[in-house]
Amino acid sequence: MRKVTMLAIATFLSAADVSQVIESPDATAILKKDALPAPKAYVMPEGCISNDAGAIARGKYIFHNLNGKDAKQNPPEGLSRTLADGKPKQMGNCVACHNIEGADGYGNIGPDLTNYKALYMDSGVRDAQFVYQKIADPRIDNGQTHMTVNLTNGLMNEREVCDLTSYIMAVKK
Ligand code: HEC
Repeated sequence: MRKVTMLAIATFLSAADVSQVIESPDATAILKKDALPAPKAYVMPEGCISNDAGAIARGKYIFHNLNGKDAKQNPPEGLSRTLADGKPKQMGNCVACHNIEGADGYGNIGPDLTNYKALYMDSGVRDAQFVYQKIADPRIDNGQTHMTVNLTNGLMNEREVCDLTSYIMAVKK
């Protein structure tokens, strides 16, 4: 089954230059679905960064979980396992690529975010706007990034990006 699909896509791609004369609506739909919207620059909303324990707990949950359905613990108040349409809510799974305080089985494709406030914020290397933009759409300051897009594709909303930013910037034990 998989082989057949791959073959169909390969055939479609190699025929792309004559796509106008070949009718392949199915393959076009598949490719469109996977394509990301264009990179977008954001201005961090007012009141975005919070020292509120609830906001930081939500950011932490999003950072350390892949999706609401499979998460071991219930999400903190203000965050749901499911979306309005009943589908499981996709979390950030940032630990797949980043180490941070308390990370369990983290990946190292992305930089270690441990002690971020002292190392990056207090030293003035980064500011909150940078972190917000990076999470919302990392392609703005790095066109070749391997990091996931979160806001431009609607995976997260502004509040969730703010909660993640607040969590990363917070002093942690
Ligand atoms: C597929 C791997 C991957 C995932 C998943 C990922 N990142 Fe990243 N991240 C990267 C890479 C690679 C970089 C460095 C390159 C760049 O800046 O784009 C990075 C950079 C960053 C930075 C900037 C660090 C600095 O100061 O230079 C922050 C903050 C960050 N990621 C937060 C997150 C958060 C929050 C999530 C989850 C929503 C996340 N990342 C998910 C790979 C990833």
